[in-house]
Amino acid sequence: MRAPNASLKTKISSHFDVESIRADFPILDIKVSDKPLVYLDNAASSQMPQAVIDRLVRYQTEQHANIHRAVHYLSEVATREYHQARCTLQQFINAKEEREVIFTSGTTDAINLVMHGYGRKFLQAHDEIILTTLEHHSNIVPWQMLAKEKGIKIRVVPINDHGELDIDAYKNLFNSRTKFVGLIHVSNALGTINPIKEMIDFAHQRDVPVLIDGAQAAPHMVIDVQDLDCDFYTFSAHKMCGPTGIGILYGKAALLEVMQPFKGGGDMITSVTFEETIYNEIPHKFEAGTPPIAAAIGFGAAIDYLAGIGIDRIGQYEGELLDYATESINAIPGVKIIGTAQHKTAVVSFVVDGIHPHDIGTILNQEGIAVRTGHHCAQPVMQRFDVPATSRASFAFYNKKTEIDALVAGIRTVQNIFL
Ligand code: ALA
Repeated sequence: MRAPNASLKTKISSHFDVESIRADFPILDIKVSDKPLVYLDNAASSQMPQAVIDRLVRYQTEQHANIHRAVHYLSEVATREYHQARCTLQQFINAKEEREVIFTSGTTDAINLVMHGYGRKFLQAHDEIILTTLEHHSNIVPWQMLAKEKGIKIRVVPINDHGELDIDAYKNLFNSRTKFVGLIHVSNALGTINPIKEMIDFAHQRDVPVLIDGAQAAPHMVIDVQDLDCDFYTFSAHKMCGPTGIGILYGKAALLEVMQPFKGGGDMITSVTFEETIYNEIPHKFEAGTPPIAAAIGFGAAIDYLAGIGIDRIGQYEGELLDYATESINAIPGVKIIGTAQHKTAVVSFVVDGIHPHDIGTILNQEGIAVRTGHHCAQPVMQRFDVPATSRASFAFYNKKTEIDALVAGIRTVQNIFL
């Protein structure tokens, strides 16, 4: 993705047929407050194309049964389709092996899995974990729980005024007690893209494993876990045109094999007696109980849909939207963009002089415009910029330039009402 540029001549790609893509998303036709919906809250949750809706309906109407538990026709079909979804995800992130992909209920669940499965087993009192100021709460709170339980210290990488990580400070945080690193790939609050490959490499030179929270990256850029060489990588389907309640944890097989299970129950065992339980192989060891079968299959369909367009084309088009939105919003007097990193995804967080973000969100909603307002589950980022909250417009590949114009008009309406 490109850095925002300051040219007022920004063009939106003519070879990206956004109108035909929009036709794939029935929800984009609804009206809110009698106005056409302008959906700019994609970092919270993106919308679902008809192909994914159809896949879910087909599964429910023709293929539904429990998996791994019976020899009857429907159970075999559901098992095969669930397996296929895992293979689709494996290919999407270029994991070496299919068993390195674990279905979770989402990114938060995946990070908690690593905290319990790896952290509780391998980290000890006086060890240190490195996180960054940009982390979402889901990559802070689980590690704080572990730190409290075990007497572990958390050290935090600072950011500069653009919302970029201080990489020298990151390197200086390492010492002989550093045992784990948790990094957000792309900041949900600011859109900053972090140089994770370099950071992973530095940690590995010191034998420290790295978990990447990729929830805001996987929808917008090609992820190759073998090239990154990360130990863990996680993201959620609902931010990439799939259903809620499903995500994946990628983990290197050698690590997953030595980790303890997070949840106990059916399917994650090979045998159970009251004396002893033998756990199943990975990935099943980490998928206790009946999994969200329909959601996993829907996730696979969402990945097929995105791959059909091309993640690199998606990223390029969204970069053009970012440029246009950045220069348009910067041109409004009294509005300040928070998060001006050189490398960003299409997220624009902003504050307006004298107006609370919740009031901005409420008035924009009356114009049919959906943005997120608040701390974005990233309170340390808000503290760093000394703001209680921001308004955040986050774009997807089905957004268009006229929707950015509508946002700008909406912000001016808010100013007219409050100032
Ligand atoms: N993490 C999601 C967001 O940034 C919910 O809005």
